[in-house]
Amino acid sequence: MASEKEQLSVLFLAYVLLMLVQEMSGLASTRSSSKMEVEALLKWKSKLDNESRSTLSSWYGSNPCSWRGIVCDPFGSVTSLNLLNSAIHGTLHHLNFSHLPNLVNLQLGNNQLYGNIPPSIGDLSKLTHLNLSTNNLGGFLPTEMNNLTFLIILQLSENKFVGQLPQDICGGKVLEYFATIDNHFTGPIPRGLKNCPSLYRVRLQNNKLKGNISEDLGTYPNLDYLELSNNELYGELPPRLGEYSNLTSLKISNTRISGMIPVELGNMSRLHILDLSSNSLVGKIPGDLGKLKSLLELSLNDNHLVGYVPQELGTLSDLSRINVAGNNLSGSIPRQLGDCLKLQLLNLSRNSLVRSIPVEISKLQFLEVLDLSQNLLTGEIPGQLGLLQKLETLNLSHNQLSGSIASTFKDMASLTSIDISYNELEGPIPNIPGFRNATNDVVGGNKGLCGVIASLHACTATMLKGKNENKKLLLILIPTLGCLLSLLFAMGASCIVCQRVRKIEASSIDGSNENPWAVWSFDGRMAYESIIEATGEFDAKYCIGVGGHGSVYKAQLQTGETVAVKKLKEVVDAEMASRKAFEREVHALIGTRHRNIVKLYGFCWSSRHSFLVYEFLGCGSLKNVLNNEQRIITFDWHKRVNVVEGVAYALSYLHHECSPPIIHRDISSKNILLDEEYKAHVSDFGTAKVLESCSSNWTSFAGTIGYAAPELAYTMKVKEKCDVYSFGVVTLEVIMGRHPGDFISSLTSSSSSSTSNSTASSWPLKQVLDQRIPSPEGEVLGQVVFFVKLAFLCLSAKPEHRPSMQQVSQKISARRSIMISTLEDVKLEELVDPGCFPY
Ligand SMILES: *[C@@H]1O[C@H](CO)[C@@H](O)[C@H](O)[C@H]1NC(C)=O
Ligand SMILES: *[C@@H]1O[C@H](CO)[C@@H](O)[C@H](O)[C@H]1NC(C)=O
Ligand SMILES: *[C@@H]1O[C@H](CO)[C@@H](O)[C@H](O)[C@H]1NC(C)=O
Ligand SMILES: *[C@@H]1O[C@H](CO)[C@@H](O)[C@H](O)[C@H]1NC(C)=O
Repeated sequence: MASEKEQLSVLFLAYVLLMLVQEMSGLASTRSSSKMEVEALLKWKSKLDNESRSTLSSWYGSNPCSWRGIVCDPFGSVTSLNLLNSAIHGTLHHLNFSHLPNLVNLQLGNNQLYGNIPPSIGDLSKLTHLNLSTNNLGGFLPTEMNNLTFLIILQLSENKFVGQLPQDICGGKVLEYFATIDNHFTGPIPRGLKNCPSLYRVRLQNNKLKGNISEDLGTYPNLDYLELSNNELYGELPPRLGEYSNLTSLKISNTRISGMIPVELGNMSRLHILDLSSNSLVGKIPGDLGKLKSLLELSLNDNHLVGYVPQELGTLSDLSRINVAGNNLSGSIPRQLGDCLKLQLLNLSRNSLVRSIPVEISKLQFLEVLDLSQNLLTGEIPGQLGLLQKLETLNLSHNQLSGSIASTFKDMASLTSIDISYNELEGPIPNIPGFRNATNDVVGGNKGLCGVIASLHACTATMLKGKNENKKLLLILIPTLGCLLSLLFAMGASCIVCQRVRKIEASSIDGSNENPWAVWSFDGRMAYESIIEATGEFDAKYCIGVGGHGSVYKAQLQTGETVAVKKLKEVVDAEMASRKAFEREVHALIGTRHRNIVKLYGFCWSSRHSFLVYEFLGCGSLKNVLNNEQRIITFDWHKRVNVVEGVAYALSYLHHECSPPIIHRDISSKNILLDEEYKAHVSDFGTAKVLESCSSNWTSFAGTIGYAAPELAYTMKVKEKCDVYSFGVVTLEVIMGRHPGDFISSLTSSSSSSTSNSTASSWPLKQVLDQRIPSPEGEVLGQVVFFVKLAFLCLSAKPEHRPSMQQVSQKISARRSIMISTLEDVKLEELVDPGCFPY
């Protein structure tokens, strides 16, 4: 009989043999599955048209792992097929998914695929990401799609799908992103979604989905975005929506939902956009919506809502759009709406609102559209509306407004569309562009208007009486406000905070209002004395920076807010220069509104102290961060890419979206401020130049040596391309971690003399990257390469070879993720060639 020991070793040997056999059969099946994969892919390729086949020219031989768009696992089996935006034209019929059993990621979006999705797709049991959006696919979806239980992302938008959505989607409870925008799907919202707590974004808009919304939605604690607009859904909004505490956008517009707006919606504390327009909602607008502190847009227009416009909306300080037009709202317009200081659109038209237009509306300095038409408003049009410098559209038609139009309207330079028809107005209409090109349609149906429009009578002496009364009002106002008001008009300013004015009796404007200066101050709370107090009358210990035109102080106000205060130099000789800088800065910033441009809260120009008040940005300047050995460690490649991107967007906005355009002229790392999240804010507009069309744009040198474009050495003509050059310098600085210095000139000289091989351009990219943080890898490496290339383009010696900031920002937003396997491969010379810009 064998000993126990022998028995054990026999058992062990058997075990080892068994393992070996298993391993070998495993290998064999891997190998054969690869062969099967190759055949399936090549068969599909062979059925595509010529152009698509040439796109897939790398698809030949027996190793698919090196083919375009293919990624394999370590055993050589295909796990990812990514041919996004590849102009593939053909069907999926000949792609037998059953032969790609290990596929995890299938990205075929933005091609020209047509026909059905083959049922074999259901065999992709490991699939987590499926993107077929923006093609011409049409079929019903195969029911086998219900078998894809591990899907995390499913994108089917912009195709021609009909029939129902897969009903058992989200079987594995991992689905996060589900988009079917712009198809012809019918039937209900998939029942599987009811129990799918993983959902993050759901976009089913623009289909023909039918179903009762109160039954079809589940509980989604992670949901960030829900849009169901333009469908045939019905039923009432479930109060459960209030539990979607992470939702930022809720858009259910143009469906058939009815019932009341649940008060629970007020619990969605992160909501930015609430759009329930064009439905059949009834009842009141809940005052609880005033709890939506993050709300930016509220659209409840074209429903059957009754009751008042809730005054609680006035507490929503970030709101930029309110549209409640086309309901049956009654009562007066709440004066609290004047506290929504960021409002750009206010549409209360087609309701039954009564009494007069509150003067507080004139606090809305960013208002672009004001539509109060078709209500029952009475009284005069407040002259203060003339302060709305950004107003482009004003519709007061079909009300019962009386009196004459205040002469302050002549300052409304932006106003291009105005309609005051069907009221009881009389007297002259102001001679502004908005009226000059208008027809009788926008002034008809009044009591006795006269003036610039051809169909109206010329104004006679009696008709002008109304105008004189307004003049009288202005005559009372001007001595009261003194030079400040004229400064206000001169600069088109929106905010002035000065103690001097506060002390003056203010009863002449509006006796009922405690703080009439709030009309011009950004939030009414910030005042001269609190700034002086918070900075210890500009004590050096609060100073956080010194610049060419003044010093910057950190001021913590009693209200708890922290602001940055830039105090201008007091040197008498420099007074004119610093006053100019002051005016330039105010002029440039008052009109701008961009997330990457520092915000101006207010300013004061007085004999004792002149200063500007800005938002405070916790991280200081880009230059500080780059020179701070502790901070630099947290300033990783992602953050750096974001900073450069932010600066590009800000400059594109200044050059191409501001009218007239603004050229900064002093872009450098010390003028780019970073907030706690390292988001870039362009600051210091002391040298900015507003390009008026009629004035000459020759000027003295402004800017920082080392950032200024070479052409400024021989011409002082301001062109926006000098900002582009400085942007290129800053971009390299961010990537190198230090100012590029002579590196730029050695690069540009080497690109013209290709014979020398010891120049900077033959260096590997790795050598110039900031060595203080780990080298970029993976996707962010691709981004860094993209931005280096972009910087070189911006640093072209000739301004006409540089792209415009608009082209730069378009390139940035259209950039694709490019994969560069290792940093070692990248040489600078490959990036300098301006001829090719592939990404
Ligand atoms: C796809 O492959 C499977 C398994 O080899 C086979 O049964 C099926 O018929 C194939 N389908 C098509 C459409 O070729
Ligand atoms: C796949 O779906 C079909 C039809 O929906 C079903 O009959 C089949 O059992 C499913 N297969 C697997 C593996 O789940
Ligand atoms: C909401 O989102 C935050 C991150 O933005 C996340 O940490 C939190 O877990 C989410 N809340 C819920 C209930 O999932
Ligand atoms: C002003 O509003 C009325 C009624 O809401 C509308 O009919 C008219 O077209 C609007 N005027 C302009 C110029 O848009």
